Amino acid sequence: MEKKRGLLITFEGIEGCGKSTAIHEAQHYLSERGRNALLTREPGGTWLGESLRAIILDTPKDQDIDAIEEAFLFCASRAAHTRKIIGPALAAGYDVVSDRYLDSTFVYQGVQGGLEDADLDLLNRIATRGIKPNLTILLDLPAEMGLARKRGDGEMNRIDRKNLAFHKMVRERFLELAAVEPDRIRIVDSSGARDATAAGIRNCLAILLEKSAN
Ligand code: TYD
Repeated sequence: MEKKRGLLITFEGIEGCGKSTAIHEAQHYLSERGRNALLTREPGGTWLGESLRAIILDTPKDQDIDAIEEAFLFCASRAAHTRKIIGPALAAGYDVVSDRYLDSTFVYQGVQGGLEDADLDLLNRIATRGIKPNLTILLDLPAEMGLARKRGDGEMNRIDRKNLAFHKMVRERFLELAAVEPDRIRIVDSSGARDATAAGIRNCLAILLEKSAN
């Protein structure tokens, strides 16, 4: 009998929204439900993706990369990710939980400007090879709170260091996307206690599993 295709679940949100904890929470929940989930991230996941990650995020201080250049780099990472990791894992029946995916390009490079939404959509369509998430969980909290949490971690990359106004626009654009695709993108408030966020995530996953069983 052919193996049932796995589900692709992606997490999105501003800096400090709690994605790293969330992806583990998701994996744990899926394993409790008898499923095997692979955790991965963007940019990254493959040799090409991790190499590009270093270029994009650890850029020397005297260098800049504009939105067009970034969009191609993130999409090159994504194209390798879908071909080498996500596509094969889903086909083998594994669920895939990805820390960021196509919506990040649409939002971050969109906010930076210089690219039309239609161009970002086209780049994403090519890079994803038609693999759309079955569910995207948008972890939402005020930008001030996210940045404060991230600063507490002490790890800030080139994009994290952009100003508060930038991160506020990123949050707004994610929320707009969720309003356009409410069936795929579920908003979970991550401004409160960890347990409350975890409960929200489990609830979204339970609904997805119920839907995909039919
Ligand atoms: P990362 O260290 O993974 O931070 P975070 O925990 O916030 O995800 O850095 C990823 C950064 O890259 C983050 O600032 C968002 C940005 N990004 C884009 O601008 N476009 C993209 O397509 C992706 C995948 C990420």
